[in-house]
Amino acid sequence: MKLFDVYPINPINIVKGVGSLVFDYKGTEYLDLYGGHAVISIGHTHPHYVKRLEDQLHQIGFYSNSIEIPLQTQLAEKLGHVSGKEDFQLFLCNSGAEANENALKLASFYNGKKKVIAFKNAFHGRTSLAVAVTDNPKIVAPINETNNVIFLPWNDETALEKAFKDNEISSVIIEGIQGVGGIQVAPIPFLQKIRSLCDEHNAVFIADSVQCGYGRTGKFFSHDFAGVDADIYSMAKGMGNGFPIGGIIISPKIAPAYGMLGTTFGGNHLACAASLAVLEVIEQENLLENAAEIGGYLIDELKKFDKITEVRGRGLMIGIDLPAELSNTKKDLLFKHKIFTGEAKPNVVRLLPALNLTRAHADRFLEAFSTTLNNS
Ligand SMILES: Cc1ncc(COP(=O)(O)O)c(C=O)c1O
Repeated sequence: MKLFDVYPINPINIVKGVGSLVFDYKGTEYLDLYGGHAVISIGHTHPHYVKRLEDQLHQIGFYSNSIEIPLQTQLAEKLGHVSGKEDFQLFLCNSGAEANENALKLASFYNGKKKVIAFKNAFHGRTSLAVAVTDNPKIVAPINETNNVIFLPWNDETALEKAFKDNEISSVIIEGIQGVGGIQVAPIPFLQKIRSLCDEHNAVFIADSVQCGYGRTGKFFSHDFAGVDADIYSMAKGMGNGFPIGGIIISPKIAPAYGMLGTTFGGNHLACAASLAVLEVIEQENLLENAAEIGGYLIDELKKFDKITEVRGRGLMIGIDLPAELSNTKKDLLFKHKIFTGEAKPNVVRLLPALNLTRAHADRFLEAFSTTLNNS
């Protein structure tokens, strides 16, 4: 049997990782500023994470949601504390798309309405509802097409008001910073406007925090910069530092009912142990502060490069917009300087490193980046 060939891959076989460094099978070292697509939050093989998973595996790895799993309660308490959303409720699942799928469905259960507002260039995942609110026709199969989704331009308050006036809106879904869309930061007044229109029309504000959440921007949720709460936050990626886990946290105004949501694997013992380890390290090592500090440093330094069109982002979610003639930058960084970064179309280099990235590693990147730009 061969693999179903859907991923354009780099010819690199990574077999080991420590912190922000990864190594291929020949022992070649790479600096990882991509974190496997914003997944590695506390660094590869963090000792506390490895120990917590190992200990849990010796106890029990999995049992279903038909029994008490105290680790879930511990995770909910810790998450409430670290995120500051203590009165929210936690539902656990397995991926970002599944988190958004549950968020959109729950919103519709809550207010009995169907229409969803999403935004140009949004990415929310590949399952049926999640892909329907994703602005990329190439990944929407005919079976996923629906007229329940209204795509609006980014940051257009007039269009938003009109859509609410003309339709019965169930929910609005928005990334605090668009990731796949090229690191576009949602303006604070726009998020505040969404909050007030959702209140006025009994619609649910869904904050997709799958990529921009979990401390990446220096605040636990990047939507928090707007100073207003969403009704549902979806999470995944950094939540398990590589162990597959996703979830939504839900405002106290939305009441649960048996059978409303569910999953076999969601919230299993091993996933909860991984996620607890992540939060413990975030707390003990002050990683929100580190993300803000090192991210701020990188953004300030990058703004000094005159060949860059624009630098966008917050904390350790950074987009470097490059002119077309520098389109080889990401490849040069990887193959000449052994540095992993991400990309977004048309020509944006994305930095999504672990939240404990050091100043020395940030400087190593800046030096390589400068050499790359000067030799192009
Ligand atoms: C903002 C956002 N939402 C949802 C998803 C989907 O997450 P997953 O790939 O875990 O389903 C992604 C993945 O890149 C994402 O960036």
